Order: sequence, then structure tokens, then C-alpha cells
Amino acid sequence: MLETFDQHRLEQLQPDDISDSLERGSIVYFPTSPVALPARDDLDFLREELPSLLKLKNISYHPESGKVHGLDAGDAETGARVTRILRQVSDDIAAFLSTAAPRLTDNWTVGTSSFRPMQERGRNLDPHASNELVHIDAGAYGATHGDRILRFFINVNPQEDRVWASKGNFSELLQSHGERADLAYRRAGPEYLAKGPLDHLWSGVVKGLTSAGLPTARVLDSSPFDREMRRFHNYMKDTPDFQQDMSNHQEFRFPPFSAWMVFTDTVSHACLSGQFAFIHTCIVRLESCRLPEIAPINLLRQAAAAH
Ligand SMILES: [Fe+2]
Repeated sequence: MLETFDQHRLEQLQPDDISDSLERGSIVYFPTSPVALPARDDLDFLREELPSLLKLKNISYHPESGKVHGLDAGDAETGARVTRILRQVSDDIAAFLSTAAPRLTDNWTVGTSSFRPMQERGRNLDPHASNELVHIDAGAYGATHGDRILRFFINVNPQEDRVWASKGNFSELLQSHGERADLAYRRAGPEYLAKGPLDHLWSGVVKGLTSAGLPTARVLDSSPFDREMRRFHNYMKDTPDFQQDMSNHQEFRFPPFSAWMVFTDTVSHACLSGQFAFIHTCIVRLESCRLPEIAPINLLRQAAAAH
């Protein structure tokens, strides 16, 4: 499940190597981050100052509004510094991907750039918000409508690994748990995952709000596909048997200053422990995929057709 791209491999990279690996459900792993890290004093500032200023689950820069969310008021200077650092990380990741995996960035949507200042182990968050429970991502930055959720992670803890767990990819999980999760494909007709009039109406309202100066309204958007994914996401987090089942359980340790990326709508994941990481989210167009038949929306359609 883990595919390593070290310096040697990066030097011989072909344009579709990384994107193919991601589409097949691998975690693309870089032993050393291929993206430049912020200056040392900026990293020290994030690690030392932000834990006490955290208001939400994470601190995130939202490119659509140009604002940082999750920071407890603080002074304007602190906000401006966090914004500058997170925007630079986002730009550097985008620049790296545009040459290393150009297919991914074609007409993509760059989403949030966030910093995770808290120790992930034992955060006691609400189960649906918890990173410690294995899940697939459902919706990110609003509805995806079948597009792909790509996340890029950098561990910037100088001492501690970031530890992940997975219980397989979407295709395996749909087969083994689709029925128990009571997903709608089992009783759906030919209209399965097609947007109805109300969905179109609602998406139109959300679009109107975003273009009328409320860019963050995009998170309100929804679609039948996103709701099906949410059902699966909630099933995984709400089912102790699933969490305790070790038959297809794997753990991964990401050392200090390593980086990794993954289609989080495809690879199930949990962050078991670790503190201080950058997480960059973007939405890759389904039509940019070379293997769209194994994207979640098409796997669901195939499962519905087989019923
Ligand atoms: Fe996730």
C-alpha cells in the first residue's frame, strides 16, 4: 500500500508515475519532503505558539477567502504570520505537483492548507470528527460530486513519527462492508447517484452565495454521491467491530520531515499519533484521472449495476 518515491526515483520520474500510484490506492511516500519547509523560526513559532491559540480542530488557511480559520483572535500580526506561512506551504506543494504529477493539477481546486498543532493521540473528539478512527473521507471543502480528495502531509515534528493506520482501500471496503453499512446502491434504481431537481436547486443556491461574496458557503453543497460517501464514513467511525477488526489492518510510521500524499476518498486512514503536521487539501477532477473506473463514484455505480 505504501509506495516510496525517494530522491533517486524522483529524478527519473515520468509524468503519470505519482498519479497512477495514487489512483491505484497507494500512499505515495517521500522519505524527505520534496517541498521546501518554512524557515526554522516560522516552524518554531507554529509549534510553540499555536497549540495555545487553537480554537477549532485545526488551523486552516482558506484560499477562497484569503483567511485563516481556527485561530483564537490573537493579534493581527500573529494572524498575518500564520497566513503567510500556510499560503507559502500551499504554493510550494502546488508548484511541486504541477511538475511531478501534472495530471492532478489540471483544472483542480486548491483547498485548505492547515497546520495540526495538537497531539492526535487521545484528543477525545466527537467520533465523527476524530482522526483516530479509521475512515474514508467524505466531502472535503464542500461536495466533491465524484471528484477526488487529494491530501498532502508533511510531518514537521523534529522528534516524533506521525503514525497512521489503514484497513484497506475503497474497493476492498465496499466489498467487505458495503452491505453492513446499508449503502443505497443495494436498492437503487437507474437514477442512483444522479442529482435530482432539489440537488440542482440547492447547488445553484450555494453557487449563488459563493459568487455573491460568501465563498465559504461552498461547504454547504451536497450531492447523492457525497451523501453516500458520508454514510460509509459514518458507518466506519460508528462501528466498533470495524475499528477492532485487525484482519486487514496496517500501520505506517512517517518520520520527522517526511511527506506523503493520498487520495483520502480511496485509502482508509486514521492518524493514531503525532503532533505538528501540514495538511494540504485539493480536489482533483475525476476527468483528470487515468483510471476513473476505480474511482469511488464509479465503483459505487458498478456495485449498483451488479445488484
Ligand atoms: Fe480523513
